[in-house]
Amino acid sequence: MFELHGRVALVTGAGQNVGAGIARMLAGQGAAVAVNDLRVERAEAVVEEIRAVGGTATAVGFDVTDYEAVVAGVAAAEAALGPVDILVNNAGNGGEHGMQPTQFKDSDPASWRGAIDVNLYGVMHCSRAVINGMVDRGWGRVITIASGAGTIGLNIGVAPYGGGKGGAIGFMRHFAIENARAGVTANSLAIGLMTNPSQTVTAALAKSIPVGRTGVPDDVAAACVYLASAEAAWVTGQTIEINGGAVTT
Ligand SMILES: NC(=O)c1ccc[n+]([C@@H]2O[C@H](COP(=O)([O-])OP(=O)(O)OC[C@H]3O[C@@H](n4cnc5c(N)ncnc54)[C@H](O)[C@@H]3O)[C@@H](O)[C@H]2O)c1
Repeated sequence: MFELHGRVALVTGAGQNVGAGIARMLAGQGAAVAVNDLRVERAEAVVEEIRAVGGTATAVGFDVTDYEAVVAGVAAAEAALGPVDILVNNAGNGGEHGMQPTQFKDSDPASWRGAIDVNLYGVMHCSRAVINGMVDRGWGRVITIASGAGTIGLNIGVAPYGGGKGGAIGFMRHFAIENARAGVTANSLAIGLMTNPSQTVTAALAKSIPVGRTGVPDDVAAACVYLASAEAAWVTGQTIEINGGAVTT
């Protein structure tokens, strides 16, 4: 079950943390993985890890906010590995640049664009670049790593990020409907607070999560393996909350 041999996956923002974990686990299930990151040296390091344990991977450096670069990056991935069957839209403001320091009422409009560009346009650009090939071949999987910030109200400074993530969730629902008859599924994972070296998480905050800990990349990667599999063919247009029980909608 959940076997991915013969499939080609593209994981964006996969040079570290959650995306790297997803790339490693998809490769472990047999997929050939195109590892994308804005910082190509990070992607190359993940490719080396995958190859070291016998997996197949290639690094593709591009910025998901630049549509022309996305199209060229997908072409490079496909030249190296073959047509993309599985897209995981993971690139996003998960780290230190994701949140604003002020309430929205005091924010500078110029500071909102980054969150929308990467978390919403990045998802749309990559989805647009792969969907026609998936439809032509009659099989595809698109998975977007969203956030609980896109499904509920959270803290001060999260509004632009939540707008980007919530927008991506809405986009995915419609994208799923449009392509359902073509054998392409599209789902979002609204993930909760992760253990992330670039974020300071207090012990009290971690304990407020019902299971008592923050998430690790494998918590998210396992859901990606399931959604990418043949067995998940009847799951589409969904937003699955993966958060240790912290958010239930
Ligand atoms: N960390 C959390 O607590 C948390 C919580 C909820 C949702 N998320 C979401 O999960 C995903 C992964 O989070 P993370 O903590 O691993 O993030 P991270 O910041 O640790 O890593 C993201 C990677 O994406 C790359 N990247 C950034 N912008 C890019 C772009 N425009 N094009 C290509 N690559 C780009 C970065 O170089 C980095 O290597 C993100 O979408 C994030 O919003 C994270």
